[in-house]
Amino acid sequence: MSMLRCWRMIGCITLTLTVAATAWAQRSDKKARSIELGEALGQSCMACHGTRGASTEQAIPIIGGQNDVFISLSMKAYRDGTRPSTIMERIAKGYSTKEIEALAAYFSTQPFLRPLQETDPEKVTRGQSVHARKCKKCHLHNGRDAIDTDSPLLAGQKLQYLRRNMEEILTGKRSVEIKMDAALREITREEVEATLHFYAAQHGELH
Ligand code: HEC
Ligand code: HEC
Repeated sequence: MSMLRCWRMIGCITLTLTVAATAWAQRSDKKARSIELGEALGQSCMACHGTRGASTEQAIPIIGGQNDVFISLSMKAYRDGTRPSTIMERIAKGYSTKEIEALAAYFSTQPFLRPLQETDPEKVTRGQSVHARKCKKCHLHNGRDAIDTDSPLLAGQKLQYLRRNMEEILTGKRSVEIKMDAALREITREEVEATLHFYAAQHGELH
């Protein structure tokens, strides 16, 4: 290879790398700015959802550490009135789509703090087997993870809140993805309740 060709090639590779690095830096910059905006806006959520989204109330969900896509979807559904709520519809209406995505970006980067909750050990055991048969396909790793970021994390979520959501889903007040509907067919109320105990029983530092 001639010296000139060689230099040209190095120049070309360097340019490509610089362009790629700049694009990457701009993307992570955009993400960092979104999280920063979410943190500022998120202060008003913490009155109810707790510091950094770690709710201490049974009726209010933990949102710190929840999946970002699921937080965004929920906020948009509340805003559009397609998901039932007592208070969130009014709150969500005050935010633009960009602001909702910033809130989701911020809360999803916080730790999911799982408090100790009162649960029934027999239901927990039964719930574990129902989970393994019917739910683990999407709510992975005992509900601490999810197959898609549009599926919520369930492990450690407030039992009363989980119950309310299942009630809305089973009675058709809240429509969920068809794929989840299939899992809920041929499942008894007792099995559902047991599964929720299994999720709520998981507490403390879990990964
Ligand atoms: C006045 C109390 C209050 C405030 C303030 C509040 N929330 Fe909520 N949030 C609730 C309650 C209660 C629910 C359950 C749905 C309902 O009844 O409205 C909920 C549900 C949610 C959910 C659904 C989570 C899940 O797992 O299903 C998300 C996401 C959420 N809130 C995000 C936010 C964000 C982001 C803010 C701030 C912009 C906020 N909330 C401010 C009380 C509040
Ligand atoms: C095929 C995937 C899939 C399966 C199987 C599945 N889920 Fe889900 N689940 C989802 C998705 C996606 C959502 C969010 C739906 C939405 O908000 O539109 C969800 C939402 C939920 C919620 C509401 C949580 C909240 O904070 O709003 C609960 C509770 C739940 N699932 C429990 C279960 C249980 C119990 C089973 C087993 C009996 C199960 N799921 C099986 C995908 C699944």
